[in-house]
Amino acid sequence: MRIPTLLVALAACSSAFAVAGPPAPGPEWFAAHRAALAAKLPPDAVVILRAPAESPGNLLDAYRPDSNVWYLTGFSEPDAIAVFRPGAVEGKRYVLFVKPRNWTEERWTGRRAGVEGAKSEYRADAAYPVADFEKELRPLFAGAKALFYLDARDREFREKLITAWRVLAADGTEPLPALDVAPHVAQMRLVKDATEIAILREAATLSVEAHRAALSLARPGVNEGVLKAAMVQRCLAGGGARMAYAPIVGSGPNSVILHYPDANRTMQAGEMIVNDTACEYGLYAADVTRSYPVSGTFSSEQRAVYDIVLAAQKAAIAKAVVGAVHHDVQDASLAIVVDGLIKLGLVKGTREEVIKSRSYTAFFPHGTSHWLGLDVHDAGSYEFADPTDRWTRYSSSMAKLKPGMVLTVEPGIYIPEKSEGVDPKWWNLGVRIEDDILVTEKGPECLSCAAPREIAEIEKAMKPSSSQSR
Ligand code: GLY
Ligand code: MN
Ligand code: MN
Repeated sequence: MRIPTLLVALAACSSAFAVAGPPAPGPEWFAAHRAALAAKLPPDAVVILRAPAESPGNLLDAYRPDSNVWYLTGFSEPDAIAVFRPGAVEGKRYVLFVKPRNWTEERWTGRRAGVEGAKSEYRADAAYPVADFEKELRPLFAGAKALFYLDARDREFREKLITAWRVLAADGTEPLPALDVAPHVAQMRLVKDATEIAILREAATLSVEAHRAALSLARPGVNEGVLKAAMVQRCLAGGGARMAYAPIVGSGPNSVILHYPDANRTMQAGEMIVNDTACEYGLYAADVTRSYPVSGTFSSEQRAVYDIVLAAQKAAIAKAVVGAVHHDVQDASLAIVVDGLIKLGLVKGTREEVIKSRSYTAFFPHGTSHWLGLDVHDAGSYEFADPTDRWTRYSSSMAKLKPGMVLTVEPGIYIPEKSEGVDPKWWNLGVRIEDDILVTEKGPECLSCAAPREIAEIEKAMKPSSSQSR
């Protein structure tokens, strides 16, 4: 092939070129989050956030910043500490402790902003090497009446910090509280702004492309790993740094394993595939599931189950409106799944009886919806009326839906082999349909529904081209 022809061909295939990914939000965006957090806290609070160090010897994955730390600072290097003193005088409100520049180390593990960069790029009022944190702690604590910390699961750091705070408190006459600031940050993260929505939209769009790529490859004799690889290729070539979560690509007996991790089985004619895979983009997660037959055409059993799950999903999405309560989404899908299971003869009783006895959980064992954002199961309270009961808690999620919230809607039916009293024609049939929904004043907006979801659309997208055969 002559070179100009090659270039034209490569340009036509968008996945041939990896792109740099989305532009990161600017320093003002992070400063606005710090200001919003400060407004929730007493003026004499000190807030200390830990960006954890990399696990020693980890060569498996690139470091991913802690979502809360990034949301408040934009700083994405490991082993750092951020301190905010909302009530301090100008120039002393924001201090960063970071790994200093050191080429001998940087040439192994990556470039650093260093102490200077912490000030010039990340707008810290002052910055120090992270090794100096304990030394600087006393002046940072001076005058503070409440400690708010975020430990990012670095227990040792938290314990040392709280011990130092208690020593200070022991010097005074009043008790000084030490509190986890994560719930405050979680509530801020629950409602997404225009910048976040734009990034989430891209994450969903890229994930849709990845699903289309997988769909076109599925047929008998192909390994699950081929679908997974196609999706990872699309996400990374499209500018995502990593997948939003470990891909779940399960065929036949694996389609009934909710978080099946292996993706290494050869798919057989007559089976369903549950493909729950999505891209992370600019640190924001999509979460998308499509289910389809390996053969490219739905059997009557597959169609019967799929129709129920799709109807349940549509009814639940319709409930994701401003002012609704989060459990309305769950309840709408549960009612339709339960009616469907009764109709198929998989459970016995009335809808009320089946919900009360929870016999449906043999086939629908998970909730329908979770928050989505920087984390795939994103931060933000569900305001569970009963958080202790894992079966019913999503039905007691009292959070009111507001514009800018983003949630998944993901009902499913999974019929394991040898399910008691179940005709073998239903065995090993799993279906989950999952999309990412933005709550808007104008109603629910589906960010990921361009991935083929109607049976006719799926069968069309799976039709072999003239060069393939099933
Ligand atoms: N992909 C994980 C979930 O659906 O919640
Ligand atoms: Mn999900
Ligand atoms: Mn999912």
